[in-house]
Amino acid sequence: TSQTGSYAPQQLNVAQPQIFRFPIEPLNRFQGTSTTIKRPREIAHFSYNENHEYRQDESGICYYHIPEMGADLCEGFDTFRHYEDKEDPHLDSLLKALVAKEKETGEKLEADFVTWRGMMTKIMTAPYDMFAEFNMLATLYDNTIFIEEDFSAKSAERAAEASQSSHSRTASRPPHPDQPSREMMTYWGYKFETLCMLPEPVTPSTPREVLAARRTAPVSNYAQHCSIVRTGIGSHTLILGGEVDGLLAPKTPSTSTSAADAPPIPWVELKTSEQLPPHPTRRDLVRYERKLLKFWAQSFLLGVEKVVVGFRSKAGILKGLDVYETARIPGMVRRGTRCWDGNVCVNFAAGFLGWLRGVVLEEAGRGGGGVWRVRLRRRGGVVEVQRVEGSFGEGKGRMGGI
Ligand code: A3P
Ligand code: MG
Ligand code: MG
Repeated sequence: TSQTGSYAPQQLNVAQPQIFRFPIEPLNRFQGTSTTIKRPREIAHFSYNENHEYRQDESGICYYHIPEMGADLCEGFDTFRHYEDKEDPHLDSLLKALVAKEKETGEKLEADFVTWRGMMTKIMTAPYDMFAEFNMLATLYDNTIFIEEDFSAKSAERAAEASQSSHSRTASRPPHPDQPSREMMTYWGYKFETLCMLPEPVTPSTPREVLAARRTAPVSNYAQHCSIVRTGIGSHTLILGGEVDGLLAPKTPSTSTSAADAPPIPWVELKTSEQLPPHPTRRDLVRYERKLLKFWAQSFLLGVEKVVVGFRSKAGILKGLDVYETARIPGMVRRGTRCWDGNVCVNFAAGFLGWLRGVVLEEAGRGGGGVWRVRLRRRGGVVEVQRVEGSFGEGKGRMGGI
């Protein structure tokens, strides 16, 4: 008699949405000169205040002034005000700022893709990061693809990490006494920002005490300023929003109404990194240049022209400083360890976006919409895209503002 029954095969017949795959390798298909890229132009901005509340203004902008060396980045850790999203932020603030701009100008802002800069950084750097992983959601609405982080997947990862680290605390071998905690290492980054920044531009009449007071100023990442740019990668137009650390000089008030001939805004990105040993090995250099990939991609996407790297000792003492022109970083690495190629990153991003748009438009049909999961697994090497069933109602609500 048939023991297998007729139930199991029927279950298998339940159609799962098809999985589309975009392999990262081989990278040589992305080599050669970069596909056309447009200089990012700011089209809107917003700030978060000290309570992380949205403000349609420039109140969150800070100004860079060279920090004092020798500062202890651990100082003030116990009073760190660390903001982390507890609820899914979606693209809400970005869309809010775009809607405000549309109302102000009466012009509709259009692009093939709208997303946070952080999502594009993850995509652009994926070719050179075996350990890269991401979980994103892509929503097609009104011919634009909105890409956001899959917050539920991120929360699950965080919970897993937390349980792992609490497990290691209770394990027989205690963590190395010289090993700073993850939270401390995060603090160093924000402490460095506080040491470098002031709420007003520095002038010759700025009192020295104002500069010195930064050393003991409380550290918080609640307040922020975000720049929203229009940019292009290959034939795709993008609207990207992301946090900017500060300005090297005050913004020149725009005398022209056209964004096309507006001068670039002198944004600066601040980063910390462990200082290299006096005689770095190739491994040390590769490790540092891999970090430069992240710094470059993140800054390049928003048109941030300079990156200031604060070098710290293992224990977190600020020892030195380097200022890079963002546009020159890929050339430095080409003359250095060659551990990544900026052209490959840009061409990969262009190729991936084109492929994603093709999959989504094809599946949605003319004038349709929907939500797709976009996932790269650790060591996976393949970006997988799969339609989320019955999801369009949610997506429509989320994107209804634009
Ligand atoms: P560093 O980059 O100097 O480590 P950003 O550089 O993007 O402006 O972010 C500022 C700081 O936030 C970082 O400084 C780091 O301390 C913290 N940070 C940013 N992204 C993080 C992440 N994914 N995990 C942990 N800390 C992060
Ligand atoms: Mg920042
Ligand atoms: Mg920074």
